[in-house]
Amino acid sequence: MQEQIITLCSAALPKIESAATVAELEALRVQVLGKKGELTAVLRGMGALSEAERPLVGQVANEWREKLTNSIADRAEMLQQALLAEALANETIDVTLPGKMPVTGHKHPMSIVQDELVDIFLGMGFSVAEGPQIEFSRYVFDALNSPLNHPSRDLQDTFYIKDAPIDETTGFPSMVLRTHTSSVQIRAMMAQQPPIRIISPGRVYRKDEVDATHSPNFSQMEALVVDKGVTMADLMGTLEVLMKNIFGEETRTRFRPHHFPFTEPSAEVDISCYICGGDVGCRVCKYEGWIEMLGAGVVHPAVLRNCGIDPEIYSGYAFGVGLERLTLGRFAIDDMRLLYDGDMRFLRQF
Ligand code: DAH
Repeated sequence: MQEQIITLCSAALPKIESAATVAELEALRVQVLGKKGELTAVLRGMGALSEAERPLVGQVANEWREKLTNSIADRAEMLQQALLAEALANETIDVTLPGKMPVTGHKHPMSIVQDELVDIFLGMGFSVAEGPQIEFSRYVFDALNSPLNHPSRDLQDTFYIKDAPIDETTGFPSMVLRTHTSSVQIRAMMAQQPPIRIISPGRVYRKDEVDATHSPNFSQMEALVVDKGVTMADLMGTLEVLMKNIFGEETRTRFRPHHFPFTEPSAEVDISCYICGGDVGCRVCKYEGWIEMLGAGVVHPAVLRNCGIDPEIYSGYAFGVGLERLTLGRFAIDDMRLLYDGDMRFLRQF
């Protein structure tokens, strides 16, 4: 039996050492050492041996098994190395090839302008206040001193929330999509006593058809200051700084008398045309030299009273500016729809 083992194993050894592939090597291992392998088959006959022979045969079998196992491991290692070397030789990497630039996004022009505004106002000691887009009609109209017959309340102009309970005093649904950010004034004044200095950028909604200058959903930024001794002069100074900051040092500001229910006096504020400078007149300013920018005024005493602030002690100013209009002006864009379309050919320019 010893001889059988030696013959078998010594025949297998050179085959192992010359195996050309990992698969061939594995087949050899199974053939000789596997559960149904040749060596295993021979050893199964060991039961028939005498007590004296058994350990001797066992020793020889173990020695050969170890020898073969080691040589299989060595050969496997060699074959792996060869595979790796071949792969490295074939798959050379050209480290000088230029990489692919990852596409990074950037701010939308509206966000650029809004962030700029917020920066300017934070620098003047304001903080940012937020209010909901689905708002109580009381905060959008009534608390802002808006009379019951004011046209903005009209179902033609305002998106009412159909399922909201009817407001007893007005007969209209008690909730709306806010038509302006002025409702945040009310929230701010109800939440704290003066001094108040807030701005509030956000989306507002009106029933408008989409065209180059209208959209049913647009953005405004509201500003509110309430303190002792605040006057129209503070408003004018602040707006002058703001407009120069956004449109350049040469920009002039003009206040035109106007009416808003929540301010008295009220004004519409124009700036000198950012295209022609205001003296020549051009298509953008419709040959007027001025471009309308925002609504503003001194907070109406009734509004302060509605919010629990004593108008005998405190006064304030407020304004609301359309962010789309500001963005169009700032970048000389002629169609508001470009701001909403998400067309990369347009957006990449900013
Ligand atoms: N809420 C007005 C609008 O949407 C704009 C406005 C005018 C806001 C005068 C104000 C203001 O705060 O004082 O047309």
